[in-house]
Amino acid sequence: MAQSPNTHQDYFVVRAKENGVHVIGLTRGSDTRFHHTEKLDKGEVMIAQFTEHTSAIKVRGKAVIYTHHGIIDTSDEKQA
Ligand code: TRP
Repeated sequence: MAQSPNTHQDYFVVRAKENGVHVIGLTRGSDTRFHHTEKLDKGEVMIAQFTEHTSAIKVRGKAVIYTHHGIIDTSDEKQA
């Protein structure tokens, strides 16, 4: 499968603002499904990349997500 040149270079950071934040990885390719769910408690930080296995993520709960494209606070209504 052709890979974006940025695969394995794009890091993102998720910082949980409450207990029980879920970072869910979705599979790359024609079959899009959850392959891993990481549960973070308040203050915990996950640093991860997009890989040959992971093309998208879903974040559930109150958290701050830092990406190359900007910073997203999932609990900030004004951003949505
Ligand atoms: N085994 C996964 C992978 O290499 C690990 C992983 C990387 C992951 N980035 C992720 C899991 C983002 C969940 C969310 O793709």
